[in-house]
Amino acid sequence: MSYTIAIDGFSACGKSTLAKAMAKRLGYRFIDTGAMYRMIALHFLRQNVDLEDSGAVAGAMKGLRVDFVPGSNDALLNGENVETEIRGGAVSGMVSPVAAVPAVRRWIVPQQREMGKAGGIVMDGRDIGTVVFPDADLKLFITASTEIRTDRRLAEMEAKGLAATREEVATNLATRDHIDSSREDSPLRQAEDAIVLDNSNLSLEAFIEAGMAEVEKLG
Ligand code: DC
Repeated sequence: MSYTIAIDGFSACGKSTLAKAMAKRLGYRFIDTGAMYRMIALHFLRQNVDLEDSGAVAGAMKGLRVDFVPGSNDALLNGENVETEIRGGAVSGMVSPVAAVPAVRRWIVPQQREMGKAGGIVMDGRDIGTVVFPDADLKLFITASTEIRTDRRLAEMEAKGLAATREEVATNLATRDHIDSSREDSPLRQAEDAIVLDNSNLSLEAFIEAGMAEVEKLG
């Protein structure tokens, strides 16, 4: 079977880690939609786009290509590998307002649907089970305590050589959670038919097993 698996949740709760591991085990394609919004945010940052200026937003998206390096899944913006840059503080600080712009979502969501139309995909984000694939075969909603999410994001940034204090990371996560769940267009929320996985007290292996157990239940 070639299932469509949607994984949603707050920032830094382990969605992409789970999605990547499940895709690998299943031989499916993995898509980190947060990386797509981060690439658009980086592009807007470089072009100095005013988010209030709809003409400037539309102009900046013309000819824009947001993709992934086959195999490594690194973020590819107009052919340039920007995987490290999109994880830095500058992009993290402005990605939520960019993702709240309806014109941005109208542009990217059809591309996400196209990527998943043949099934065999694990896609993670904020609106995958509610908006992008409301008919997904499996919807997981991931949660973890704020403390643990902050620790993980900090460790992830350190591993990439990106500087940030614990307080900066915690503030960024709280601000993004608020913007992502209170915006008008496609706010983050748990789909009614989603299964909640709290990984606060799970090892990585147990977390992946919990996700895979839900796939096995599909038959
Ligand atoms: O998963 P992430 O932290 O890399 O996502 C970056 C931002 O993109 C996040 O603050 C909200 C936004 N986002 C979104 O609005 N919808 C998605 N499907 C994925 C991410």
